Amino acid sequence: MTAPLLEAKGLTVVAETPTGRHRVVDGVSFDLARGEILGLVGESGSGKTMACRALLKLLPSRSLSIQAGSVRLDGKEILDLPDAAFRKIRGARIGMIFQNPASHLDPVMTIGDQIAESVRFHHGGGRKSATARAIELLQQVGIPDPGERARAFPHEFSGGMRQRAMIALALAPDPDVLIADEPTTALDVTVQAQILRLLKELRDSRGLSIVFITHDLGVVAQLCDRICVLYGGRVCELGPKRAILKDARHPYTTGLLACQPGLASGGGRLATIAGYPPTLDQMPPGCRFHPRCPNALLACAKVQPPLETFAGDHAAACHNPVDAAPAPVTEDA
Ligand SMILES: Nc1ncnc2c1ncn2[C@@H]1O[C@H](COP(=O)(O)OP(=O)(O)OP(=O)(O)O)[C@@H](O)[C@H]1O
Ligand SMILES: [Mg+2]
Repeated sequence: MTAPLLEAKGLTVVAETPTGRHRVVDGVSFDLARGEILGLVGESGSGKTMACRALLKLLPSRSLSIQAGSVRLDGKEILDLPDAAFRKIRGARIGMIFQNPASHLDPVMTIGDQIAESVRFHHGGGRKSATARAIELLQQVGIPDPGERARAFPHEFSGGMRQRAMIALALAPDPDVLIADEPTTALDVTVQAQILRLLKELRDSRGLSIVFITHDLGVVAQLCDRICVLYGGRVCELGPKRAILKDARHPYTTGLLACQPGLASGGGRLATIAGYPPTLDQMPPGCRFHPRCPNALLACAKVQPPLETFAGDHAAACHNPVDAAPAPVTEDA
């Protein structure tokens, strides 16, 4: 097996709060192959954004810090690189598009200038060639009349166009990995579908690897090759898309699936998961999902379940997993 392009191991982020020190990301590990799309899913507050920001050493506040973990890019540890060396990797090799594009685009600079500036920062060259490259990138992400639109300011773009502009900006340094944090949640369904198609095309045409953060398993089902499910800052299940959608073993994953229109098995009424996600200052001991879990055993309240592999690279952290789906009946069975 070839080594993964990106490998996060044991990522742990601690928040200093008035109620004490809390792990908002607790030993999260996942990897990403070249040209692969990994979906990172979980309820609001499960640590999706923080885990990815930790990867990029872009924690949004001084009260947050990386306490442990390793991030390897092409087999080389990057988390302990000095800041200047790390800045060269961030953007250039790993790009990120954020949850809210409006707050990450400069309102007083034209879209074209912002992209051209990034092209020059990472690749050098003159203003003219950088502007030409910016227009080319805008065209690639499906902005109509890109030469003209490059001269527009962010507020002159619609939500969908701004998100495309963010993608063009993230692609300007020609990264190997793109981390896309809920890039479509604020968009209407048609525009959302266009952006998902665009990301798939970018994977196919450039071999881009993508970590796609979302709470929407329906989106993940359309887009991703593998899925990593987070709960309370920990990975509870990880595996190929088919294994997660058809043979989920963690009761939290089966609960999430039952809440999704179109994915719920049996086509019955949509379920909800009873109870609420834990808050930082009241993280349950043992398995963090146990107070809400229909399968909970006594051990679940005491002992943190390790991530255990079932078949291939399908793994779940659960003391009492959901039964495996029955094997399909074959003619000679
Ligand atoms: N600046 C901060 N200081 C302390 N804790 C924070 C800070 N920002 C976020 N958190 C906490 O970190 C945890 C993880 O948050 P994160 O933003 O990663 O969740 P998320 O899965 O991305 O959720 P969403 O789907 O709402 O974007 C949450 O419990 C959140 O309250
Ligand atoms: Mg988030």
